[in-house]
Parts: sequence; C-alpha cells; structure tokens
Amino acid sequence: MDDKKIIFSGTQPSGVLTLGNYLGAIKNWVELQKDYRCIYAMMDLHTITVRNTPADIRRRTLEVLALYIASGIDPDENIMFIQSQNPNHAELAWVLNCYTYMGELQRMTQFKDKSARHAENINAGLLTYPVLMAADILLYQTDFVPVGKDQMQHIEICRDIAGRFNSLYGDVFKIPEGLLSKTGAKIMSLQDPVKKMSKSDPNPKSYISMMDDMNVIAKKIKGAVTDSEGKVEYREGDDTKAGINNLLSIMSAVTGRSIEAIAADYQNQGYGVFKADVAEAVVECIRPIREKYDKLINDKAYLSGICKNGAENARRISERTLNKVYKKVGFVI
Ligand code: TYM
Repeated sequence: MDDKKIIFSGTQPSGVLTLGNYLGAIKNWVELQKDYRCIYAMMDLHTITVRNTPADIRRRTLEVLALYIASGIDPDENIMFIQSQNPNHAELAWVLNCYTYMGELQRMTQFKDKSARHAENINAGLLTYPVLMAADILLYQTDFVPVGKDQMQHIEICRDIAGRFNSLYGDVFKIPEGLLSKTGAKIMSLQDPVKKMSKSDPNPKSYISMMDDMNVIAKKIKGAVTDSEGKVEYREGDDTKAGINNLLSIMSAVTGRSIEAIAADYQNQGYGVFKADVAEAVVECIRPIREKYDKLINDKAYLSGICKNGAENARRISERTLNKVYKKVGFVI
C-alpha cells in the first residue's frame, strides 16, 4: 500500500438512501477520494439487527453500490465491497465483544432509540451493533471515518475499545477519528425539523429519497414545515427556526455557498421564493446522480464484479489486522 491515509465508511442497505445520507456522508466521500485511500462498504450485517425483508436487503445492497458510483466514487481507485463478503468483520467483532462492557453499550443513544422503536425485538445484535461497527473500522487501520453527526457516538466507543485493547496488548489498532462534513452533517426531517431526516421515518414527506422523482422532490421541499415569522434567518439552537435552519443547511450543502451568504440573498423575500429556490437547487444536485444511477443499476454483472473484486481486496488488507489480534489474544494461527 502507498502512504496515503486510510478512510473507511459505509451505509446500511436497509432502506432508500436519503438526501441526509448523501449530504452527511456520501458527498464528503467523493471529495476525500482525491487525497486518501478510501474503502466504502455496504454494511449488510448491520441490517439484520432489526427485521428487514431478505429480498429488499439483497436488492438494496447493489442499489447502494450503484448510488455510490453515480455520486462520483470511482470504482477503479477505491475499494467498494459488501460487508458480509468479508468474514473478517464478524470474526473481529466477536473478539472485540469480549473487550466491551455491557454498560457502555446500554448507554448508546441509537440502542435506546431502536429498542424503543422495536420493543418486540430487542436482540443481542442491536446491543452489540457498535462493536461490529468498531470492527469494520479497526480492521483497516483506518485514520478517518467520514460520517454524519448521528454516528459520532459510535466512533467514540470504537476509539475507547481500540484504546483498551491497545493498552492490554500494545499498538494493535490505529485510533481512528470521525470526520464531519462542513455543512449537512445533520439534515433534519422536513416535517418535524427537530428530528433527524431518516429513511425509517414512516412519513415519506419527511425525507427526500435519492430515488424520488424530481417533481416529488420539489413538492416535498416546498411542503417543508417552517414557522410563521417570515424571516429567512439562521438561528442555531432555536427550535422555532429549525425548519428554516434545515433548509439553509441543505441549500448551503448542495450549492457550496455559506449559510450567511444565502440568508443575505433572501433578506427581503418570503418563504415561498426561498423554498422554490431550495427545491430547484436540490433537484439540480440529484438529477445527474439519478441519470447515472438509472444506467448503472441495470448492469448487474458490472456491479457484482466490483463487489467481488472489492471483497478480495478488503479481505487481504483486513487479514493482517485480524491475524495480529488473534496472535495477541492467544489463538494458534
Ligand atoms: P446509516 O446507514 O444510517 O447512514 C449512512 C451515513 O449517512 C449519515 N446520515 C446522515 N447525515 C446527515 N443527516 C442525516 N439526516 C443523516 N442520516 C444518515 C450517517 O451518519 C452515516 O454516515 N452504523 C452506520 C453504518 C456503518 C458504518 C460502519 C459507518 C456500519 N459500520 C463503519 C462508518 C464506519 C449507519 O447505520 O449509517
């Protein structure tokens, strides 16, 4: 390997990808590929911690890959693979389970949220989900993990587990750092803007799917919940402005302009004009991605080839770390 620093990240193929996934993570990955050695995966092992339909997981796994490529991630320059096609993830996760405390897992926000939402199925995998995620990251001696804000707590526990293991056995793992995009690290629901935009939200008007038709996207943005004040102004932490704050963040993320400059443009305009412009900007951001995606998704042989190749590379790289771990804990290898 060359001396470029290593990036690892991934998405669960458990639902349609949203504008939140794109602006919070994937868009940032595209930019990072210039300067880093990047590994981006489809995290299917994580999807079975809640009940999903098997055929949906299978189909969405390739859809997510097609969307990565359509967004601009170059399959010739980066490693892309399906998590379950590299068994080293599950193997390292088992070892790390034995170096992670129940208390730290029970404190995780996502565990608490998901346990409340899936009270009939609080399985052990839901609890140990962050350990598998730590294994994903640590296997590749990752330097940076570009994610949205909601995943930062998982990066923290990953650092804790790695540090604990290293203090027992010497320098086995690189301690990774989370990387947030400058804008768009937390895109909120369009219907309840104090909540994160999420693909598992039962109300489809609350999120923009990367698979939505262009007119549906525009309609959803124009129907976004705002306030009655009528001022396009960004006020961090003011929940009454959450809707406008969110639209300003989205506009900033898709255009690359600062929130201040955008707000200044709309000083004397109503929300109607502002929302129409945000809608147009989002449509223009997603349209070329969708056009590429629509061509790619029918080429299953091409997509499967990338996965196969990616899994081989991923296995080869991650084996070094797994062997080191096995040796350290006393396994005969
Ligand atoms: P997932 O599949 O929920 O989301 C994929 C990425 O999208 C980001 N994201 C958002 N960013 C901004 N605003 C939003 N509303 C929003 N919604 C989602 C997420 O932060 C994430 O970066 N546990 C991970 C998948 C995973 C992973 C890993 C990631 C498994 N192993 C190792 C990095 C490294 C997850 O469920 O992401």
